[in-house]
Amino acid sequence: MNKKISSLWISFLMSLIFLSGDIHVGAYLGINWGRTATQTFVPSMVVDLLLQNGIPELRLFQPSLNVLDAFADTNIGLAITLQENFLRNVVEQKQMDDYIHERVKVYSDKGVKFRYVYVGNEPFTKALYMKKQFNGTIRYLNMTRDALDSFNLLDIKATTPHFTDVLINVTKPSQGDFREDIKEKMLKFLDCINRTGAPFVVHIFPIYTVYRYGFDVDFAFFDNKSKFKIIDGNNTYTNLFTFIYDTLVSALAKAGYGDMEIVVGQNWLAYRWICECK
Ligand SMILES: *[C@@H]1O[C@H](CO)[C@@H](O)[C@H](O)[C@H]1NC(C)=O
Ligand SMILES: *[C@@H]1O[C@H](CO)[C@@H](O)[C@H](O)[C@H]1NC(C)=O
Ligand SMILES: *[C@@H]1O[C@H](CO)[C@@H](O)[C@H](O)[C@H]1NC(C)=O
Ligand SMILES: *[C@@H]1O[C@H](CO)[C@@H](O)[C@H](O)[C@H]1NC(C)=O
Ligand SMILES: *[C@@H]1O[C@H](CO)[C@@H](O)[C@H](O)[C@H]1NC(C)=O
Ligand SMILES: *[C@@H]1O[C@H](CO)[C@@H](O)[C@H](O)[C@H]1NC(C)=O
Repeated sequence: MNKKISSLWISFLMSLIFLSGDIHVGAYLGINWGRTATQTFVPSMVVDLLLQNGIPELRLFQPSLNVLDAFADTNIGLAITLQENFLRNVVEQKQMDDYIHERVKVYSDKGVKFRYVYVGNEPFTKALYMKKQFNGTIRYLNMTRDALDSFNLLDIKATTPHFTDVLINVTKPSQGDFREDIKEKMLKFLDCINRTGAPFVVHIFPIYTVYRYGFDVDFAFFDNKSKFKIIDGNNTYTNLFTFIYDTLVSALAKAGYGDMEIVVGQNWLAYRWICECK
């Protein structure tokens, strides 16, 4: 791989065992907690699970007040998501300031350790399971940053996670680039996060990509059983995860951001049994 992965987030309830192998997690491992489920967890229980298992980071999809309360003085780093149904109604800066005050400033004062505010989620995706494109990301990102700055919350970074379909289809990672139809917006987005020291957050789903590219399915798994390889210059790829990751690195480098920090915000790890049980 060209670059070290600075962090890797997996979805809640997925086993951590799968993180051995050729992926090196540089800084930390986090968990995504979506609360749209038939069995919802009591926030304090989730905090206990995280502490017992030494998980230092959590992403929340909704910054609900009772959930935030449970994280006061836990030292667990939080990423919260500003949902599109909230953002759509934001017309002026004051609304954003009020929201950031209520959900971030107040709880930060109570000892909640916020690390990221995610402004929307995968706004440029074209994947079928998602909604139509969401406009206004750069404007809302700007407003969020300004709101955080106005409360002097300089260490909390504002960014927006992207799905890998912001990239063009490639046969080799070095061909990596952003999709033509969103390139202009992406360049503005990159300028904003680079200026404000925020990372590029990417969601990587190897199983989705392996079908889309028509690669050997084994290439999506981490167990290194795939005979399928892709050679690109001096790099040999035996796993789709590193292939996708380096494709993003190439795209960022072409846009002038080869050194930008990348956070793998979601990674739906491919379990071998998914295929064996079909
Ligand atoms: C994966 O397998 C190849 C041979 O097929 C080997 O060269 C490589 O070292 C293996 N990688 C890991 C991480 O085990
Ligand atoms: C977003 O902008 C595009 C192009 O300007 C437009 O076609 C689309 O309808 C807009 N989507 C929404 C949800 O406003
Ligand atoms: C947001 O936009 C305003 C007006 O263009 C500008 O003054 C401010 O610096 C921008 N903030 C960020 C964080 O880009
Ligand atoms: C990539 O390939 C998939 C599957 O063939 C196609 O649906 C998609 O539109 C392609 N994306 C681009 C950016 O060309
Ligand atoms: C491949 O490695 C050789 C030897 O280390 C180096 O000289 C060359 O520049 C590398 N090529 C690429 C494309 O990185
Ligand atoms: C990104 O930010 C760094 C650090 O502030 C700066 O040195 C660099 O010029 C920026 N890159 C671009 C392409 O603006």
